[in-house]
Amino acid sequence: CGIVGYVGDRSAQGVVIDGLRRLEYRGYDSAGIALIADGKLATDKKAGKLANLEKAIADTPLPASTTGIGHTRWATHGGPTDGNAHPHVGRTGRVAVVHNGIIENFAELRASLESDGHEFTSQTDTEVAAHLLEREVVGGADLTVAMQTVCSILEGAFTFVAIDAEDPSRVVAARRNSPLVVGLGEGESFLGSDVAAFIEHTREALELDQDQVVTITREGATVTNFDGTAAEGRHFHVDWDLAAAEKDGHDWFMRKEILEQPRAVADSLLGRRTSSGALHLDEMRLDDDELREVTKIIIIAAGTSFYAGMVAKYAIEHWCRISVEVELASEFRYRDPILDNSTLVVAISQSGETADTLQAIRHARSQRSKVLAICNTNGSTIPRESDAVIYTHAGPEIGVASTKGYVTQLVACYLLALYLAQAKGTMYGDEIDGVMTQLEAMPAAVEKVLETAPQVYDLAREYADRRAFLFLGRHAGYPVALEGALKLKELAYLHAEGFAAGELKHGPIALVEEGLPIWCIVPPRGRDFLHDKMRSGIMEVRARGARTIALVEEGDDSVDAVSDTIIRLPKVPVLLQPLVAVVPLQLFACQLATELGYDVDQPRNLAKSVTVE
Ligand code: G6P
Repeated sequence: CGIVGYVGDRSAQGVVIDGLRRLEYRGYDSAGIALIADGKLATDKKAGKLANLEKAIADTPLPASTTGIGHTRWATHGGPTDGNAHPHVGRTGRVAVVHNGIIENFAELRASLESDGHEFTSQTDTEVAAHLLEREVVGGADLTVAMQTVCSILEGAFTFVAIDAEDPSRVVAARRNSPLVVGLGEGESFLGSDVAAFIEHTREALELDQDQVVTITREGATVTNFDGTAAEGRHFHVDWDLAAAEKDGHDWFMRKEILEQPRAVADSLLGRRTSSGALHLDEMRLDDDELREVTKIIIIAAGTSFYAGMVAKYAIEHWCRISVEVELASEFRYRDPILDNSTLVVAISQSGETADTLQAIRHARSQRSKVLAICNTNGSTIPRESDAVIYTHAGPEIGVASTKGYVTQLVACYLLALYLAQAKGTMYGDEIDGVMTQLEAMPAAVEKVLETAPQVYDLAREYADRRAFLFLGRHAGYPVALEGALKLKELAYLHAEGFAAGELKHGPIALVEEGLPIWCIVPPRGRDFLHDKMRSGIMEVRARGARTIALVEEGDDSVDAVSDTIIRLPKVPVLLQPLVAVVPLQLFACQLATELGYDVDQPRNLAKSVTVE
């Protein structure tokens, strides 16, 4: 789901197609474009990858144009077909519109249009918006007014970008939930789902709020609310360089992002201590009194971010003595959770746009709970709607499967835990200092564990023909086992399950058969009781024929005899071990998927940012 719009002097086709390519990482299953030429619309759209659309345009060229819109779609209403792809046009072919999100009252609107004689060619909710907009402009409204009128009658989550064939001077967009930013160039303007769409043309941008309409022309942008009253976007300068959004010579963005993790961890730790040594978080915005009143924490997140949340539970409960629940965002508000103003809800989201997480925080705030977001995307919706934010500094993450996003979330969770401990006085200043020093050693530890890559890649080649894997961990290693399994599912489409090693005997051990590869995350020796129990777990599965791959800290040879492969991790404290233990699992999934010939950056059926519930 990516959106691009352009008006200026260049070829709109070139700008739109390039913009869509830069948004490919968001995940999509069809692509389309609409241009204005000689008072008429020219459109083309194709199911599948952008290359299909480019081929169609090469076979049947579109007329020259300097005003256009484009879209990559992730199917919601109606399957991923040419016909359901965007743009959609109105009855007379005058207005074209692209759309992200869902119009909830589209069935009623469609029925009423049909009773007025409108015919529809697709199953999408978007086509209804195209007909409604066109009805307004045919009735004499300009496209901006038409957009305001139509948005006022639509329900649901949506972002639109539209053009009117009879007015090539403007492109009009409306933003409710899905992201949309404006790019301001010299004599040209852009719209994009994010700045990657136009970063090669301009670095000046405008962020829009919810429920705003923006009209772009060659001269700039005008923003209004849905009711037509004047509004303002927030101007910002994009300091990401283009190279940050490119692969740097690696075969996959994901591999590049795995290798960037030492840097990402270091960046996420920068500037967190004041000169007096106290912990300081820029956008905490909740004062110590408010934090001292917190009696319970609920962490909500989806996917990989959820597994970061599970690690956070171990750290927060241990360091702060506050009880923590970790809940899937998609389940949270449907179970009538117990919330009040002494509950702190922590929402973890790399993209800041995940609809499940967003709805969960809205519910929490409606129940008077304070919400703190941990997020990698500045200006995205979840931090904007939260009381406080800790930004991770992973930089743009393009691979759909999260890697550097995840490790920086872990860092942010540790920082939050220490900050709470500082506010609540559950740790002394020098203890906090000590953990900060351990954290500051983590970039080097992650760098060290990346040296296992050749060994892990060999292993991926060796096991490329297997169809199932298990992952075992204990304590903070348990969520890492879950994350390792998720990575293999996402990238290599394999049956992979993570289990708490102690739970093995209560069922999962029945899965163990001759030759089944099992990754075992061995806790550091400092926690002997955990370590030894894990060792027994490894012995049990090996006795039943499993092939054991053990992640073990340096200097610990106690599981060598029961492991088929040993991968050495740097020595780190047990609570911080996820930061290093996850790395070989990421490398393994990336390499195994590569061996199998799959698209690592854009796994089938997945999207980077899932903006529908
Ligand atoms: C999608 C992605 C996952 C990601 C999850 C949560 O499903 O494919 O990789 O972990 O969303 O995303 P968020 O941006 O909220 O962290």
